[in-house]
Amino acid sequence: MKVLIATQKPFAAAAVKGIREILENAGNEVVLLEKYPGEDELVAAVADAEAMIVRSDKVTARVLDAAPKLKIVVRAGAGFDNVDLAAATAHGVVVENTPGQNSNAVAELAIAMMIFMCRNQFTPATGSEIQGKRIGIQAFGNVGRLVGKKAEALGLKVLAVDPFIPAEKIAEAGAQPVGSVAELYASSDFVSVHIPATPETIGSIGYDLITSMPKGAVLVNTARKEVIDEAGLEKALEDRPDIKYVTDVAPDNYAALQEKFGLRVFATPKKMGAQTSEANVNAGLAAARQIVAFFTEGCTRFQVNR
Ligand code: 3PG
Repeated sequence: MKVLIATQKPFAAAAVKGIREILENAGNEVVLLEKYPGEDELVAAVADAEAMIVRSDKVTARVLDAAPKLKIVVRAGAGFDNVDLAAATAHGVVVENTPGQNSNAVAELAIAMMIFMCRNQFTPATGSEIQGKRIGIQAFGNVGRLVGKKAEALGLKVLAVDPFIPAEKIAEAGAQPVGSVAELYASSDFVSVHIPATPETIGSIGYDLITSMPKGAVLVNTARKEVIDEAGLEKALEDRPDIKYVTDVAPDNYAALQEKFGLRVFATPKKMGAQTSEANVNAGLAAARQIVAFFTEGCTRFQVNR
């Protein structure tokens, strides 16, 4: 089988080596397309691919139309909002993700971002400490749970809410469940966002939630920029000069936010939550193994477009 690895943001070399080994040892041919400029190059490369591994690369209906032999796309990572699932299903293409494989890297970044903002982006201005504060975890999946564990170890009180996880399970995992997202924001000095971008969540974090946070709060977004209502965020930062926002993907209005709010806002230049060699190896090798299992055993355990 011909397997295309299409990564605008390349995997670490160790991950590419491991992916190749797994796929080639199982008799597959591997084609690597890294740092490609845009959709045209992906459309050309996918023409004879039977399987594809991607990261946040956009797998659109046009890409799928151009891939008549494609049977499976594995998103090496958690979020699959970059893949047009309806188009994939219409083409009979299985879409999978690799849940949990890059979660620790993202969780470490969320904690680092909290401290970075509390210390005024590592400038000499007097900062604050995270110990003894409350952190609210918005969605208690693989990343949220790890952020909770790390925060607890650093002396924070951990609150959490998740529409799909019962309160008892959240409590069993060591966090205090709260009844609603509104309660989480109103009760947390830090909120760490771990919701996926879906029609229900897009634009769901806006003025009311942000301004309900306690004095000096920091909103930490290592999830997706789309879940934030950017106009609402801007107004909230205007009306509440004590609140800070840090994010792993720059909002569209980042230049305006930086100009207005200076050190109270920070966005990474490029999404970097999962950009560690460990996360690349874990997610990349899992993706390669899932492709081998799909072709050899028909395994679709991680399919997300059933
Ligand atoms: C994910 O959904 O797994 C993360 O956002 C990582 O995305 P990336 O592979 O593009 O870094």
